[in-house]
Amino acid sequence: MELEEALGLIAEVPDFPEPGVLFRDLSPLFADAGAFKAVTDALASTLDDGVEALAGVEARGFLLAAAVGYARGLGVVLIRKPGKLPQVAGRVDYALEYGTATVELPAGVVRSGQRIAVLDDVLATGGTVAATAKLLEDAGAVVDSVSVVLELAALGGRGVLGDRKIHALQAC
Ligand code: PRP
Ligand code: HPA
Repeated sequence: MELEEALGLIAEVPDFPEPGVLFRDLSPLFADAGAFKAVTDALASTLDDGVEALAGVEARGFLLAAAVGYARGLGVVLIRKPGKLPQVAGRVDYALEYGTATVELPAGVVRSGQRIAVLDDVLATGGTVAATAKLLEDAGAVVDSVSVVLELAALGGRGVLGDRKIHALQAC
């Protein structure tokens, strides 16, 4: 399947998870074998050769990081929601488009100087990726780039990420 057709499977759902939010639901894209492959291949091709590991953000980022990691022969650092990890290296609280959230980094999985690319499905306010980058950098890693399927440009995520390299397969 062509990438454009794959991206066309993203559904728009008004008023979720609260009134006024137009939610982009990637579930149909993930569920379609051809679309999932097209998106995985496109994300894999955004990565520089110097990338040594991927960071996937729970939960949908896990799917993409796992698939791209397999395609590129890279391991995945699991960026987790709070209360899941027995040994925590770091924790960052941040604001979401709706509500607040926290991400945690497992202890002992990141090397000092390791070049890591962050993978997620949607870049909205940028809070999740900014918190993830801080977690990784506090642990001594180098955040090489950020790759997402969909950028919600109106929410200004690029602005909060400064001069980071950001690859979005689609922006709207
Ligand atoms: C969504 C999405 C990104 C984040 C984007 O995750 O998968 O991780 O929000 O928003 P931001 O740029 O404003 O931070 P969500 O917290 O809904 O988690 P889920 O993957 O577990 O559904
Ligand atoms: N879809 C999926 N995840 C999100 C969205 C969205 O519209 N906004 C913030 N995170």
